Amino acid sequence: MNTSSTHNLSLEELDKRFFFHPATSISDHLANGPKIMDHSKGVRVTDTKGSTLIDGAAGLWCVNVGHGRQEIVDAITKQAEKMAFYHSFTSISNEPAIRLAERVVGMAPDGISRVYFGNSGSDANDTNIKLVYYYNNMRGLPRKKKIISRDRAYHGSSFGSACLTGLPINHEKFDLPLPGFLHTHSVDQYREKPDGMSEEDFATHLANELETMILAEGPETCAAFIAEPLMGTGGVLVPPKGYFPKMQAVLDKYDMLMIADEVICGFGRTGQMFGSDTFEIRPDIMTMAKGLSSGYQPISASGISEKVWQVLEDTAHTMPGFGHGYTYSAHPICAAAALANLEILERENLTQNAAVQGAYLKKRLNEELGGLDYVGDIRGEGLMIGVEIVADRKTKAPIDPAAKFAGRVMKEGYNNGIICRALPHRDVIAMSPPFVITTAEVDEYVAGLAQSIRNVADECARNNLMNAA
Ligand SMILES: Cc1ncc(COP(=O)(O)O)c(C=O)c1O
Repeated sequence: MNTSSTHNLSLEELDKRFFFHPATSISDHLANGPKIMDHSKGVRVTDTKGSTLIDGAAGLWCVNVGHGRQEIVDAITKQAEKMAFYHSFTSISNEPAIRLAERVVGMAPDGISRVYFGNSGSDANDTNIKLVYYYNNMRGLPRKKKIISRDRAYHGSSFGSACLTGLPINHEKFDLPLPGFLHTHSVDQYREKPDGMSEEDFATHLANELETMILAEGPETCAAFIAEPLMGTGGVLVPPKGYFPKMQAVLDKYDMLMIADEVICGFGRTGQMFGSDTFEIRPDIMTMAKGLSSGYQPISASGISEKVWQVLEDTAHTMPGFGHGYTYSAHPICAAAALANLEILERENLTQNAAVQGAYLKKRLNEELGGLDYVGDIRGEGLMIGVEIVADRKTKAPIDPAAKFAGRVMKEGYNNGIICRALPHRDVIAMSPPFVITTAEVDEYVAGLAQSIRNVADECARNNLMNAA
């Protein structure tokens, strides 16, 4: 294609002309154009128009150690100069990947003993689906393949991981999910736990539902259950007390694997190293990405328990090889970036800071927003917080989706110095700032967010848009 006629176009116009954006409304984008980010430092990111914002989303829940860390940049440069790439197929290896595998196993919950590297959370979950199939084929259980996920889960956008995802936007018009991928209820305590029911009883109810589904499907066909310890994109949903131990008791009963998707929670976000630590999960397989490198390089990892590994090892002689791999699995530059990132995370005790600042952020949000008629719920753990906006606090009726309340808040945030995220289901506004955020920055952030929410509520009220769905 001849692009010589476009040389006079601005960056915004070039973007609209050539760049097909992920997870973006095509019509909105063509009408409004992009917001072009230019540089970033600490908890702040600056766009090409010179507007500097507190990055309350840490990119996409990932820049955990903060922006502009020279130590990681240096590790990337050093490795690029030494050897930018070599693959890891057919027993070839490289030092950063070996050291990273050892470090991740050392940090991971008990039982995780091997690490398989990929490039994104989505491809790691595809690896995990294939591992589940492979594991049961090797155990002589070829019918045991169904994987149960949850409504509103987000496990990625690739073909397999999108089947695990439980959000309509990721399924509609893509003909997903494929057969063999089931979804049980999520853990929406705000909307689905009946008034007066204890968290423990709600957890028992959800575990009973899981068991009913397994029995209806036939336990001999059910292979695994996958869950985010604290559900992110689906609405920042905190599991009720005792949920995972109860769910795992059911899985154990029917010889099913537990896959903990730690893509957001992993490496400190919930205030402990893994969401599995915070919510008492014993993962057989674990998905890690985002916080593994704080987004400085694309890298993911599947943590595999000794229980699963032993089957692979014991049966390996029956196969010519393990026929699954990505060219950039264990990429040396990505591994070097991840090692430098984990070094910072541990040395600076940032997981602890996520716990402390997360509690402070929740407190400040409650003080600023808790009394507003249209703020239904403020929830989360560590630096993973969601605010749910409703039309009526008493009935919990959501606002008519046509008002796009949360989406408006996200845009209004740009005028008030902050970035937050509008989640795809109902009006939930998510916050997940970098762990280096200070108390003063939390105050500044909450002021900007509260102003944005109030402005949008006023605007919607003026235009008669605060009605129940
Ligand atoms: C829990 C979870 N799993 C998987 C993914 C997919 O990761 P990626 O976007 O790196 O493919 C995400 C992304 O947000 C996620 O939140």
